[in-house]
This record gives sequence, structure tokens and C-alpha cells, in this order.
Amino acid sequence: MKDTVILGIESSCDETAASVVVNGRRVLSNVIASQVDLHAEYGGVVPEIASRKHVELILPVIDSALKEANVSLEDIDGIAVTYGPGLVGALLIGVTAAKAIAAATDKPLIKIHHIEGHIAANYIDHPDLEPPYVCLVVSGGHSHIVYVKDYLEFEILGMTRDDAAGEAFDKISRVLGLGYPGGPAIDKQAKLGNPDAIHFPRVNFQDTYDFSFSGLKTAVINYVHQANQRGEELNIPDVCASFQQAVVDVLVDHTLKAAKETGVKTICLAGGVAANSHLRATMEKRSKDSGFTVLYPTLVMCTDNAAMIASAGYYSYIKDEFTDLTLNAVPSLRIGEGHQPERPKNL
Ligand code: KG4
Ligand code: ZN
Repeated sequence: MKDTVILGIESSCDETAASVVVNGRRVLSNVIASQVDLHAEYGGVVPEIASRKHVELILPVIDSALKEANVSLEDIDGIAVTYGPGLVGALLIGVTAAKAIAAATDKPLIKIHHIEGHIAANYIDHPDLEPPYVCLVVSGGHSHIVYVKDYLEFEILGMTRDDAAGEAFDKISRVLGLGYPGGPAIDKQAKLGNPDAIHFPRVNFQDTYDFSFSGLKTAVINYVHQANQRGEELNIPDVCASFQQAVVDVLVDHTLKAAKETGVKTICLAGGVAANSHLRATMEKRSKDSGFTVLYPTLVMCTDNAAMIASAGYYSYIKDEFTDLTLNAVPSLRIGEGHQPERPKNL
């Protein structure tokens, strides 16, 4: 069978990325221009700066991805692009570039939900993985437990009612003066601390696998402020380890319960917070007793990249799920929304 070569484009937040992937699993190139240093100065992503930087970077990044893969636009079978959720100004740059390439080459355009992309990162790193499985998707903007019934069929089993897990890591890091992005900094500090030193609250709702992290965030901020007011020196590693333990406990508890209910055998992790070493280790340890196989992407595939978008694009491509050139960015988009197999091929 002929190989299917997909060009993936991602610009939903502060990474401008392009990648070429064969048959959804083999990465020929994965170019990521991160703007993290630019935004770190402000303690978080500044949407206007992100959009302007995407405009500067998008074409050079796409060029590099094609060159590194040693392919030309002629060799590409389809162009997959993140169209939501994300920052509207940032999404629009990737969407516009993808539409322009689709129009100029007359190749099919494929719209990808960013979170479905994060889930697909697991296909790249685990060539034998096939649905069904349950995926915990935890990133800067999202915390979802998703039942992946098939490549294009998703059911949300639980989601955050307020802050995303990554958002909590970033806010706590800022309060502790550890900088942006907060996840890697807290992960590092937590390794030196005692997770049982401070008991921070865990929220469990009845009859749902939903999450809530805003109470935990407030509890940690209050703890830090009170210590400062009393002139006490903070044990930063202990605060980080105790906070991280509270997040991980809830993420793992809810995911295991949800996975048991569906009867799947595999649990996957995805999104930036899936890079967290304690989350990975705890999920693996606690899943073993229940007989689940736990899979997670390599670090670079956890955070934003375009290989995951190209991989997801392949599964739409083989089902003839194409979109036309009226495609627009959709800043708030639910998982699973937008899969319409009857859509026409291009134009
Ligand atoms: O998936 P991603 O790159 O962007 C979004 O789609 O949001 O995720 C970024 C988030 C940030 O909140 C960052 O702090 C978090 O992932 N993150 C981590 C770690 N590495 C990145 N959180 C916890 N532990 C980590 N090691
Ligand atoms: Zn992301």
C-alpha cells in the first residue's frame, strides 16, 4: 500500500511547529520553535506577542520541516492543522498557512482538535497502540479523562470544572518565584522535598470523574502568604512536593476509576503535564495492581508539537474526513466536535 505523508501544523499557543509524518506513526521531521523565553519575562503567555511571533516563524518552520524530512509539497498527501481550542490570534496563523498551502497545491486540508492531537502523540511513540483506551489529557489549558473508543471517536468521562492541572502548576510556580513554565520547575524542586510535609486539599465530586484545582491553588497560595507574613522561611521543595502529590493523587484516582468503568486494558497519558515524572511513576505503580498497561509519550511529544497533529491528521485522512477552505479558528472547541465524515474533499 502507498505511504500517506501528512504535513502537520500547530500554532495554538506559544509554539510554532511543523512536522512531516508517514502513516500516522513514522516522524520524518518535527520542527518546534518555542517562544517560551519571550513569554517567561511576563510569567505567562501574552497572546498578542504569541500571534506576532507565529507570523514571523510559521513559513520558515514549515520550510525546515519539509527540508528535514527531505520531501517537497508535491510529496505531501494532506495538510493537517490545529484549528482549536487555543488563542484565536495564534490559531489563525497556522490555519491561514495551512489553507494557503492546500489552495496552492490542491491537496486536502484536515482540521485537528488540539487535544485529539495530544492523544495521537501516543501513536507515534507506541507503534502497536490501538483504541480502545482511556487517555488522561493534562496540559496548560485542559484536564480531561477521555475514552478513546476509536481513532476518531471520543467520549469525555471527566474534565476540570475550573483550572487546568498545568495552569495550577504555572500559578504556584509564579507565587514561589520559580518562573514560567511552572511544571518542569516544580517537578524538579519536588524531587528534593517531602510530599507528606503539608496536607493540601483534594477535591472529589460524587458520581463524576471531574476535577477541580482552584481550591488547591488557593490553599497553596494562602500557605505561602501566611508563611511570608509570619516571616517564616518557606521550604520550597516541601511545598512543591506536597502540591504535586495533591494534583497527582486526584489525577490518578479519577483516571483509574474511569478506566475500570470502561473495561479498557490500557491507560495513556498526554499533554504537557504528562511530562511530570511523579505523575508517570504513580500512574504506572498504581495501575499495575489493577492490571492496566500505562503508556505515555516521550517528553518532546508531551508538550506542543506538530507531529502529533500530523498523526491525528492521518486517521482523518484515511476516513476521508477533509475540510474546505472556509475553515476558521475555533478558540473553544469540545473534543470529538467537528468529525463529519461526509465533508467534501477540499474546496
Ligand atoms: O501541552 P502543553 O505544551 O500546552 C498546552 O496545550 O497547554 O502544556 C503546557 C503545560 C504547562 O502548564 C507546563 O507547566 C506543563 O504543561 N508542564 C508540566 C511539566 N512539563 C510541562 N507540568 C508538570 N510537570 C512537568 N514536568
Ligand atoms: Zn497543548
